[in-house]
Amino acid sequence: AGRKFCVGGNWKMNGDQKSIAEIAKTLSDATLDPNTEVVIGAPAIYLMYARNLLPCSIGVAGQNAYKVAKGAFTGEISPAMLKDIGADWVILGHSERRAIFKESDELIAEKAEHALAEGLKVIACIGETLEEREAGNTNDVVARQMCAYAKKIRDWTNVVVAYEPVWAIGTGKTATPDQAQEVHAYLRKWLVENVSQAVSDSLRIQYGGSVTAANAKELAKKPDIDGFLVGGASLKPEFVDIINARQ
Ligand code: G3H
Repeated sequence: AGRKFCVGGNWKMNGDQKSIAEIAKTLSDATLDPNTEVVIGAPAIYLMYARNLLPCSIGVAGQNAYKVAKGAFTGEISPAMLKDIGADWVILGHSERRAIFKESDELIAEKAEHALAEGLKVIACIGETLEEREAGNTNDVVARQMCAYAKKIRDWTNVVVAYEPVWAIGTGKTATPDQAQEVHAYLRKWLVENVSQAVSDSLRIQYGGSVTAANAKELAKKPDIDGFLVGGASLKPEFVDIINARQ
C-alpha cells in the first residue's frame, strides 16, 4: 500500500545504562531491514544515552511529553526538550498513561497537537479494554479516541497510530491477525469518513500487544497492519526478528 513499515520498541520504565548498552549493541550489530523504520522509546532519563549508542538509522522517542514548551510543570518534559536532545518522536496516549496516570482523550490530543507543532513525530496510541471488547464496543471506543485526536490534528503526515488492545498488552494474549486486521480496517474506514481518503490511505497503523518474533510474521502479512509497537520483546534480541518480520 506504499506505507513504510514502522516498528517501535517501547521500553516503558525498564533498563539501566548496562542493559541499554547491550540492546544498542545488538541493534548496531544486526542487519536490519532497510525498508522498516525503527523507533525506540527510552525512559526520558536515558534518551540522550540511548541516542548516542543507537545507530543513526534508528529514531528515538520520548514515552510522554507535556502540552506546552516550558514552565512551572514539575516533573514534566516538553517536546522542545525532546527535540533538543535529538529525539524526533514521542509516544502519546499509551494505555498505561490513560489508565494509571488518568490522562484523558482531550489531554492526549492537546499533547499531540503541541508535539506536532514543535516538529516531533507522534505515535498516537489507542485501544479498547477487555470489558469494552466483550461488551461489543471496540469500534466505538477506538472511534472516540480517534475523534479526540482528529479535533486537534490538522496534518497527519507525522503521525503513526498504534492500535493496542489493552487486554493484549503485557499479557501474552496477542490479538489474532484477523482480530487486529478487523480493527485496522475499521480505522481506515473511520478515517475515510471523518478525515479523508488520502489520510486513510497513507496513515500508518501499528499493532501493539504481546508482539513477539513468533507472531510478528503472520500479523505483518495483514494488509492494514503497517508495523508494531512492541513492549516486552523490544528489550530482547528477538526485537531484531520483529523489525525484520517482513523478510
Ligand atoms: O507499547 C507497547 C505495548 O504496550 C505492548 O507491550 O509488547 O509488552 O505487550 P507488550
